[in-house]
Amino acid sequence: MELAEAVGLTPDPWQCQVLESTSRRILLNCSRQAGKSTITALLAVHAALYDPGALILLLSPSLRQSQELFRKALDTYRELDRPVPAQTESALRLELSNGSRIVSLPGKDHTVRGFSGVRLLAIDEAARVPNELYLAVRPMLAVSGGRLVALSTPFGARGWWYKAWRSSEPWERYEVRASECPRISADFLAEEQQAMGDWWFHQEYRCKFLDAETQAFRREDVDRAFEEEVEAWDL
Ligand SMILES: Nc1ncnc2c1ncn2[C@@H]1O[C@H](COP(=O)(O)OP(=O)(O)O)[C@@H](O)[C@H]1O
Ligand SMILES: [Mg+2]
Repeated sequence: MELAEAVGLTPDPWQCQVLESTSRRILLNCSRQAGKSTITALLAVHAALYDPGALILLLSPSLRQSQELFRKALDTYRELDRPVPAQTESALRLELSNGSRIVSLPGKDHTVRGFSGVRLLAIDEAARVPNELYLAVRPMLAVSGGRLVALSTPFGARGWWYKAWRSSEPWERYEVRASECPRISADFLAEEQQAMGDWWFHQEYRCKFLDAETQAFRREDVDRAFEEEVEAWDL
């Protein structure tokens, strides 16, 4: 919380809970733009500063997306005026003089293996991270007993992230709809719903896991959603 203040961020109530949580397994099922990457970047910087020698990995479906989250962490670190000096500061990793590292991983399972002793693994756009990739990175937490934070907007009723959300496994779960976000106006949401149709809107802004069979949506909205989905994969 002090870190958030120091970078001029007033966390939303759910973001406060995430910052104060001690859970080792966290799922953030949030609307677009709710602030899930922002708060996860803060968690990453916090771990790097206060847990010397910590290895923090940021993973997304693609390197570009991992770098985006990394960029948020780097911005946070810089806004704090680099309280612990950096040894390496690149577009891919930050290494501090206290031995901590924040590393952004490419979204390919044959290149992510090989890290161990991970203190925090953050998986952004988790609904779009393939099962094989998830299975490849999970063992990195084994010995270290590290934390796993998986954040996303839903992307269909399938995949490991959806299963984790539905499972009885001991994850701490957060659901944050756009209507609960003080920075997203009701007018904007009405406009979005009109433009994208109910199916897509429920998924992007109301945290809903939907599939093609989900009733009560117009066929054309569902078809359109799945057409866009094909374009969205860039693995
Ligand atoms: N508590 C907050 N106060 C002010 N702005 C915030 C807060 N949380 C997030 N934001 C801003 O909202 C925007 C979306 O945040 P982001 O973390 O990228 O959302 P998401 O990853 O959920 O799509 C960003 O411009 C971010 O700086
Ligand atoms: Mg994000």
